[in-house]
Amino acid sequence: MSTPTDPLEALPAQAARRRTFGIISHPDAGKTTLTEKLLLYSGAIHLAGSVKGRKVGRLAVSDWMKMEQERGISITSSVLQFEYQGAALNLLDTPGHADFSEDTYRTLAAVDSAVMLIDHSKGVEARTRKLFEVCRMRKLPVVTFMNKLDRPGLEPLDLLDEVSSTLNLRVSPLNWPIGNGPDFKGVVDVRTRQVHLYEATGRHGTEVLETRQMSLDEARAVVGDRAIDQVIEELELLHGAGDDWDHAAFLRGEVSAVFWGSAMSNFGVEQLLRFLAADAAGPAARQGREGDEGQTPVTVAPADERFSGFVFKIQANMNPRHRDRVAFMRVVSGRFERGMDVIVGRNGETLRLAKPHTFMADERSIVDEAWPGDIVGLFDPGNLRIGDTLSAGRRLRFDGIPRFAPEFFCRTVLKDPMKRKKLDTGLVQLSHEGVIQLFYRPVVGRQDPWLGAVGQLQFEVLKERLKIEYGVNCELEPLRFTQARWIGGAPEGLKWLEGRRDYTVVEDRNEQQVVLAETAWMMQYARDHAPGLVLYEVEPL
Ligand code: G4P
Repeated sequence: MSTPTDPLEALPAQAARRRTFGIISHPDAGKTTLTEKLLLYSGAIHLAGSVKGRKVGRLAVSDWMKMEQERGISITSSVLQFEYQGAALNLLDTPGHADFSEDTYRTLAAVDSAVMLIDHSKGVEARTRKLFEVCRMRKLPVVTFMNKLDRPGLEPLDLLDEVSSTLNLRVSPLNWPIGNGPDFKGVVDVRTRQVHLYEATGRHGTEVLETRQMSLDEARAVVGDRAIDQVIEELELLHGAGDDWDHAAFLRGEVSAVFWGSAMSNFGVEQLLRFLAADAAGPAARQGREGDEGQTPVTVAPADERFSGFVFKIQANMNPRHRDRVAFMRVVSGRFERGMDVIVGRNGETLRLAKPHTFMADERSIVDEAWPGDIVGLFDPGNLRIGDTLSAGRRLRFDGIPRFAPEFFCRTVLKDPMKRKKLDTGLVQLSHEGVIQLFYRPVVGRQDPWLGAVGQLQFEVLKERLKIEYGVNCELEPLRFTQARWIGGAPEGLKWLEGRRDYTVVEDRNEQQVVLAETAWMMQYARDHAPGLVLYEVEPL
C-alpha cells in the first residue's frame, strides 16, 4: 500500500477503493475454500492450502502470527486484508460453524457488503437465512455465489427461484452455468455472452487457473449444441423475467448479484473477485450523535477529515499470562494514525491508540495508518466495550450495534457462595464485552441474572473466562427457553404476557422488557393474540 504524501488529499481516493465484506454461509458450503481462493487470486498467497492449515506457507512467517501463536489468540483469521486491481479488500470472518456467536452477527455491522455462499445442491440453509436477515436489516448489498458446480445440484432456475422466494430477495445472475456435476461445462457471462469454459485440471485448484473464453456459437463445437441451446433458452427466460442488472439497486441492497462456480476447482472465483473489487460497495456514511449529551444528530461521511471508528468485536486472550484483549475497530471516517488520541463516545475519556495492529498479507503487524473501511486491532486493557465510538477532536456516538435475540439460555450455579460478588462483577463485565447477554427477573432484581447467547460456544467461553479472570468456578444449568424477543407496542400486550404462566418477562441491562418462550410457536401465538403487542428480534435502539 503506497503512503500518500498529503494524507487529506489521499482520503477520498483511499476510502473509495476500500471494499469491506464478509462471507455468510451455512457450515460446509465452502467458506474456507472460497476465502482461500480469493486470497490465491489476489496474489496474497501463492499456493492454496495455506488458510485451512493456517500454519503453512507465507502466512505463518509473519511476526503477527508468531505473536498470535505465543499468545494463543487467533486474529489473522478474523480479518484478511488484500489488494486486487487497485482495490483494498478487507474480508471479515463471520463464523458459521461451532464458534457461531453474536460476534458473527456483529461483524456484519462492520462490513459494507456480503457474499452469500450457497451450496447449489442444498439451496438456502438455516444459518444462511439467519445471517441474511442481518444483512437485510442493514440494507447491505449481497453477492450470491452458488458453489460446488462440479457436483450435481439443483436446476439453476429452480435454485434461483428458491433463493428469491425464501429470502424474499430479487436476484440478478451475472453469469449462468452450462450444465452441472459431471456435465458442468462452464459459465456464460450474462452481459457479454462470453463463455468461460471449465476444465477440470486435477490439481485440486491449488494454482490460478487460465480459463478459455469464447462466444456462445464458438462454444457449440466444444460443449455441444444441446447444452448451448439450453443455456440460450434459460438466458431468454431470465431476460423475460425482467431482472436485468441494476447496479444502483444492488448497492441499495434490493437486488443480489448472482455468480456460479466451484471454489474448490477455482472456477468462477476470478469473476467474483473482479466484481467485488470493481462493483461492491465502498465505505458508507454512518449516523450518530455529537456532543457531550449526545444531542446533535450527525451523518459522518468516510471523507470527513476527522477520524472516527467504532468497536464491533472484542476478543479476549485466553492465555492467563497475557490479559490483553484485542478490540476490533472499523474506521468510519478520516485517516487513522498510530499513536493518535481519541475520545471514547460513551464516557468522554481520552485514549491514546499506541499499538494498533493490522492483519496479514503484507506481513506487517503494527499499522501506521488506516482508512475508512479498514479494520484495526487495538490492544485494550479493559477500557473499551462493544459498540464504543472512538473519534478525534470531538465526542461522537454512532448509533449502537444492536444485540440479537439469544437462542440458548442458562443460569449459573455457584460452587462457592462466597464468590457471589466476584461472579456478579464478572458477568456484568463480560456482558459488556458481548460474551453473553444478561436478563434480570423482576422478582429478584439485579441478582442472579439469567444468561442468553446466540451460540452455545459463548457459554463455554464465559465459563472459562470466569474461572481464569475472576477465579470463579461455576456450573451452567440450561433453561428451557429457546426464544427471546424485545417487547414493544401497546401496554396491553405486555399485560397479556404477564398474565400468563407460559411466558416469562425479564429485563435486559437497559431495563427493556424481554419475553422468553419455549418454542417459536408460542412466540407466534403471543404475536397473534396479545393486543397491540410488537416483538423485536433485534434490540430496538
Ligand atoms: P466451510 O468453511 O463453509 O465449512 O466449508 P469448507 O471450505 O471447509 O468446505 C467444505 C467441504 O466442501 C470441503 O470438503 C471442501 O473441499 C468442499 N468444497 C468446497 N468448495 C467446493 C466445490 O466447489 N466443489 C466441491 N466438490 N467441493 C467443495 P471436505 O471433504 O470436508 O474437505 P477436503 O478434504 O476437501 O479438504
